[in-house]
Amino acid sequence: MSVELIPSIGRLRERLSSARRAGVTIGLVPTMGALHEGHGCLVEQAAGECGLVVVSIFVNPIQFNQAEDFARYPRTIEADLAFCAERGAQIVFAPSAEEMYPAPLRSFVEVTRLTDHLCGPFRPGHFRGVATIVMKLLQIVQPDRAYFGEKDAQQLAVIRRMVSDLNVPVEILGVPTVREPDGLAMSSRNRLLNAEERRIATTLYRALQAAERAVAAGVTDAEAVREAALSMLREQPQIRVEYLEVVEPDEMQPVGRIDGPVRVAAAVWVGSTRLIDNILSMPPH
Ligand code: PAJ
Repeated sequence: MSVELIPSIGRLRERLSSARRAGVTIGLVPTMGALHEGHGCLVEQAAGECGLVVVSIFVNPIQFNQAEDFARYPRTIEADLAFCAERGAQIVFAPSAEEMYPAPLRSFVEVTRLTDHLCGPFRPGHFRGVATIVMKLLQIVQPDRAYFGEKDAQQLAVIRRMVSDLNVPVEILGVPTVREPDGLAMSSRNRLLNAEERRIATTLYRALQAAERAVAAGVTDAEAVREAALSMLREQPQIRVEYLEVVEPDEMQPVGRIDGPVRVAAAVWVGSTRLIDNILSMPPH
């Protein structure tokens, strides 16, 4: 299988309009590249459900709140193209920053409330940057379906809400988190960890599992659930917890008492790398 690399919005629109006229279902998988098995599952699911799959690869400057993080973000376009071809994508849309932002941007999409907690306060402007680029990609590609990972649960909730609030004619599909055999959620940032940091990073998922077990065992006090996870993370002095919260899954608001499904979500720093993860947790009936 081969994949077509398209860097221009105009050419992509031409290519897609003939497919659309022919009645082909178009799937979009937005990414920032440095593709791994997590992205692979999104592409494979899209390929299974759609006649034509577009993977976008664009390291979006307006969603980075630190210039250094943007500069350090891994870029592996050649390997990404081969990866997309193997997973059944037909088109890789990889525009330049000038193509996506030819003039200073004066219009943004802002999703309120859902961004008040978790990553929101720690990454000012991040979700505005994500919502804006995803809206642009949805306008450019006009897919029938777009695929996002549950690994970034707050991002998925923000996009679902944006699409619903603004009547964007697309179906948003959430795909479960893909993990390494030791539980670490796959992430483009994992390759920035050294061997020692990589080993320690597994504590994040184990801590979230401890919280999930507490919820499943009937603990209703969210503070007690948080503590189950935090006590494990404290054992690793090289881990700095940015946040660890128990939230309801739609509007991402912290809960005090657990009486329904909750998402336990965390961001931690391991050395100079920031990792996020979350688990949907169900109380017993
Ligand atoms: P990126 O981090 O490249 O992720 C692209 C998509 O892959 C996102 O929907 C993300 O949730 C999903 N993903 C990443 N790791 C995953 C894993 N281990 N399991 C399942 N899905 C996983 O998220 C972004 O890019 C950007 O914010 C973007 C939406 C492209 C906007 O710029």
